[in-house]
Amino acid sequence: MSALLMPNRRQGTLSHAKAIRGVSAFPITKATPADADELSALHAGALPPGWSAPEIAAYCGETDRMVLKAANFAGLHGFAVLQFAADEAEILTIAVRHASRRQGVASYLMEAAIGLFGEKSVSCAYLEVEEGNIPARSLYEKSGFRIFARRKNYYRTAGAGMATALIMRLDIGGGLSQVNT
Ligand SMILES: CC(C)(COP(=O)(O)OP(=O)(O)OC[C@H]1O[C@@H](n2cnc3c(N)ncnc32)[C@H](O)[C@@H]1OP(=O)(O)O)[C@@H](O)C(=O)NCCC(=O)NCCS
Repeated sequence: MSALLMPNRRQGTLSHAKAIRGVSAFPITKATPADADELSALHAGALPPGWSAPEIAAYCGETDRMVLKAANFAGLHGFAVLQFAADEAEILTIAVRHASRRQGVASYLMEAAIGLFGEKSVSCAYLEVEEGNIPARSLYEKSGFRIFARRKNYYRTAGAGMATALIMRLDIGGGLSQVNT
């Protein structure tokens, strides 16, 4: 069984996590290829058309990527995919099952991810979000991410319109670029 990933660093003001004082109702562990079918189904429900099970299984097995899942006795609630390159990281996706939203699941995933960034000496982390995705933007801002750049007309929307992508960045510090040799 995967080790429990406990967040070791807090950003922003995530009220659910504070209320539980570090004892997570949604333990965060590393996903494995065996979780891929369930993660893929969850992703398709959250961000259609979602990623296929083979794609997610590959992410679970790659050394520069990591899939974190939030699961408890009631089952799988959400997951996040992280990517590492040199002293930078990127959150490639985060998704929570509809029935599990607004209970702090994504907050726990973000805290675990940021904790890992600290452990891996990541100096800054990036992510991309559609400008109109208010729940995700609010989550990211509470986690300490700030808008770094805009890509206009980047996403094609369901109604065949175009939407702006925001690139958000979190400066963590203590990464390779700040180590004096
Ligand atoms: C965005 C998403 C991951 C949030 O998951 P969640 O587990 O419900 O989030 P949390 O309960 O941890 O909420 C954390 C913060 O996010 C923000 N948030 C979450 N849902 C929100 C909503 N519907 N409206 C406004 N803000 C919201 C709030 O700031 C919230 O803090 P608060 O509860 O103290 O106000 C979830 O809505 C989701 O899976 N959406 C579809 C997939 C997606 O858009 N992913 C991001 C792609 S870039």
